[in-house]
Amino acid sequence: MKNKLITIQCVLLLLVGCTNPKPETTNLKYVEEPHSHAQPNEAVITHLDLDIKVDFNQKIISGKASYDIEHNKATEIILDSKYLDIEKVEADGVATEFSLGSFDEQLGKPLKIAIKEETKKISVYYKTTDKTEALQWLNPQQTADKKHPFLLTQGQAILTRTWIPIQDSPQIRITYDATVSVPPALMAVMSAENPKQKTADGRYGFKMRQAISPYLIALAIGDIEYKAISSRTGVYAEKSMLDKVHDEFSDMEKMVAAAENLYGKYAWDQFDVIVLPPSFPFGGMENPRLTFATPTVIAGDKSLTSLIAHELAHSWSGNLVTNATWDDFWLNEGFTVYFEMRIMEALYGKDRADMLALIARQDLDEEIEGFKDTPNETKLKLDLKGRNPDDGMTSIAYDKGYLFLRTLEEQVGREKLDPFLKQYFEEHAFSTMNTERFIQYLDEHLLDKNQVEFNTDEWVYQPGIPANQSIIKSDKFDKVEQAIQQFIKNNKVNPAVTKGWTTQEWVHFVRNFPKDINKDQLKMLDEAFDLTHSSNSYVAMVWYEQTVTHDYHGNNVDTEVEKFLTSVGRRWYVSTIYKAFKKSGRTDEALAIYKKARPNYHSVTTNTIDELLGY
Ligand code: BES
Ligand code: ZN
Repeated sequence: MKNKLITIQCVLLLLVGCTNPKPETTNLKYVEEPHSHAQPNEAVITHLDLDIKVDFNQKIISGKASYDIEHNKATEIILDSKYLDIEKVEADGVATEFSLGSFDEQLGKPLKIAIKEETKKISVYYKTTDKTEALQWLNPQQTADKKHPFLLTQGQAILTRTWIPIQDSPQIRITYDATVSVPPALMAVMSAENPKQKTADGRYGFKMRQAISPYLIALAIGDIEYKAISSRTGVYAEKSMLDKVHDEFSDMEKMVAAAENLYGKYAWDQFDVIVLPPSFPFGGMENPRLTFATPTVIAGDKSLTSLIAHELAHSWSGNLVTNATWDDFWLNEGFTVYFEMRIMEALYGKDRADMLALIARQDLDEEIEGFKDTPNETKLKLDLKGRNPDDGMTSIAYDKGYLFLRTLEEQVGREKLDPFLKQYFEEHAFSTMNTERFIQYLDEHLLDKNQVEFNTDEWVYQPGIPANQSIIKSDKFDKVEQAIQQFIKNNKVNPAVTKGWTTQEWVHFVRNFPKDINKDQLKMLDEAFDLTHSSNSYVAMVWYEQTVTHDYHGNNVDTEVEKFLTSVGRRWYVSTIYKAFKKSGRTDEALAIYKKARPNYHSVTTNTIDELLGY
């Protein structure tokens, strides 16, 4: 609606001499998008019918992707494809000409399909290949129950085109139906209406009635079961994990209720989470109706469930209102971190939320330090043309984005910010947003309206962090910092001080050792707290970062580091540890471990680590 209004305004302005319209006020529905070959302004897909067979022996998905299309007398429609074998293409059921353009390392090949004026449907018969980047085929040994293989997909940012030929831009929105045939011992689930039980013949039908962006199409197949938490929330996991996962995430219904209370009705009916094998490359992925999650958050004490709050928050910021291009990624992630913190505060109180916010604040400082020679990377609005959009997945989008909204909250107050955000999600539901249009909307509906001055442009378009930033404080973390000083000064640990510490306090403790901490001091701490064998993956990860950095080898930590790197594929975790190796001149040791670990990693993780270690 808004778009149309702008268009009308601009047409009127043009009539009276509007000579220099801004790019965002053109009458084209889709903005220029550097990460897709599609030309949706010419011809666009609106619905996908997927009919595929999954062959675990050959590690191939094959079948047919049919699309309803819309166009105005176009002669061709362009899809994205990468590492796919295209067998034949039909237009309204009749074979039609198609061609594949030249290969681009990031984008793959444009699949150009001849259509006629009256063409309403196209079908592409295709197969995936062994290069297909979205898919991770796991052997039974890589699963929790070790009996059956597993397959998972990861679409964001531009990987869906490696398992389905599609217009792979976040601006595209499609509904979908899918039929998926799998070996009968396994169950298939998607970002759609899902089965709760296995079928006898291994055929599963899916429906996604709400329109989503292609990066959110997802599939997981394994020997999994379902356990409900409430009528609209529940978990999928392998049998041996199911009860643990159910206990860990038992607050999920409360999270959905808290989120709805903040920013409006949950739009996707069902909110389930599937806990995947540990080689899943992310902490979580907000696939609509079915968040994908790493098992590393199953800590036994619910201490890492902010990840669920985060993925749930994407049901508004990201899935409902979607970044138009990957340059606008901060609109997805910054808003989501802000929303995540609000959900956590609503459920567990301000202390917990402030600790999370302060951890994020430290992440941001470290990220900015890492970008000190390339300050443009610290802008919220990015310029990723010609680059892998994954490069934008840094703390800047997440934590600077968060800090921007938190600072805004401080300026205008929650009583004004919350209704504004609620209205923003409502008015732009099931559509895309870019940075420029967001700023315009912010000006109109929050700042000008309340006569508030705010340096939005500086936050968005300048590097670094503006001086008016919100200052985050946590009494609990102050005490943790005092404990560190005391232990180091006395050369003696007083375990009573740490009694009742939460995971966040332990993480803060380990991350804030003095830079010149020595091996004896690390040994003292490890002897007191056995950090080397921490059962909490986050605490273990930050501890291993320290032991690698400071060349500490006590308590068999080297064995544990290797175990961790060869069993976990979560990119953020493993890259933190490999970076520590590299920074302390121990790349050879890292490479020796990486050689063993690499077969367990998804392509998004190997891409990052290959580059980091020069593999
Ligand atoms: N959507 C992201 C994951 C992502 C981003 C995948 C960009 C591919 C490209 C997801 O919501 C996310 O942010 N995951 C985080 C967890 C979170 C608690 C910060 C992760 O995986 O670490
Ligand atoms: Zn996210």
